[in-house]
Amino acid sequence: MGQITFVEHDDTKHVVEFEAGSSLMQVAVDNAIPGIDGDCGGECACGTCHVILSHEWFSKLGAPADNEEQMLSMTPERASSSRLGCQVIVTDEMDGVTVHLPEFQM
Ligand code: FES
Repeated sequence: MGQITFVEHDDTKHVVEFEAGSSLMQVAVDNAIPGIDGDCGGECACGTCHVILSHEWFSKLGAPADNEEQMLSMTPERASSSRLGCQVIVTDEMDGVTVHLPEFQM
C-alpha cells in the first residue's frame, strides 16, 4: 500500500492510495482520475492511459516493450518519459511517486 499523486495538465493534484500489483491505469480508473480512460482494459491497444513519469522513475522502470512503444509513437504530447499507465505495474517502492497527465489522450 502506498500513495501516488496524479497531476493534471492544469496542475490539479489527486493523491490516491494504491495496492502493489495494480497498474497505474487501474489505480487511476479506480479513483476516477480525469483523463485516464483505459478504454481497452489494459491491453496496450488504445493509448488512453498515457502518463508522464519523472525521468528518475522512467529510468528505473526500464524501456517500454515494442508494443507499448508503437502505441506511444502515436500518442499526442508524448514526452521523453512517457509510458502507458496500463503497462506500469506499481510496487511498494513507488510510494510517494508523482505522475503527470497530458492535456489530451488518444
Ligand atoms: Fe489501453 Fe493502456 S488502457 S493502452
